[in-house]
Amino acid sequence: MAIRKIAQIGHPVLRQIAREVSLEELKSATTQAFIDDLVETMRDADGAGLAAIQVYEPIRICAIEVRNNPRYPYKPPIPLTILVNPVLTPIDDELFDNYEGCLSVPNLRGMVQRSVHLHVKAWDRHGNPIDELVHGLKAGTYQHEVDHLNGRIFVDRADPSTFTTWTEFERYHRASFVEKMQALVARVGS
Ligand code: NI
Repeated sequence: MAIRKIAQIGHPVLRQIAREVSLEELKSATTQAFIDDLVETMRDADGAGLAAIQVYEPIRICAIEVRNNPRYPYKPPIPLTILVNPVLTPIDDELFDNYEGCLSVPNLRGMVQRSVHLHVKAWDRHGNPIDELVHGLKAGTYQHEVDHLNGRIFVDRADPSTFTTWTEFERYHRASFVEKMQALVARVGS
């Protein structure tokens, strides 16, 4: 396994549309080793998720995991999940304001509107079907990662007047945001 370099905003790879992965390609030793690298890189950088495109591989694979994350200590745990060729469909119109950050955007957070309830269809890393409903902060993380597969970065969707460095987020925005997220988690479970 190897820790990969993470592309930073401005690199054109982050604006590509990632291509779909075939079942045969997914099951190859090369792709399986790549997924191991993706997970290791995400964990090393304390990410809540990492899309293949962020490590210069424009294919439709992303990793998601939250366990005591120092970047996002308010996020409920998400077990390690690999999404291959994911398709997200909001199940209603309800939105919430999510203060997001990104490993490809150094020292910036911003408020993005995300769907609260999503239907997720994808394959797992072995090609088994994933068909589930996700909610709340977990749904926000899924939408952030799948945006990467479509060449989109959270700053495209954020209200620029909410941009903040991580230090100023801690100082001025964290308390009220965490209070809102605790209320959301209490209501929708994640
Ligand atoms: Ni990101």
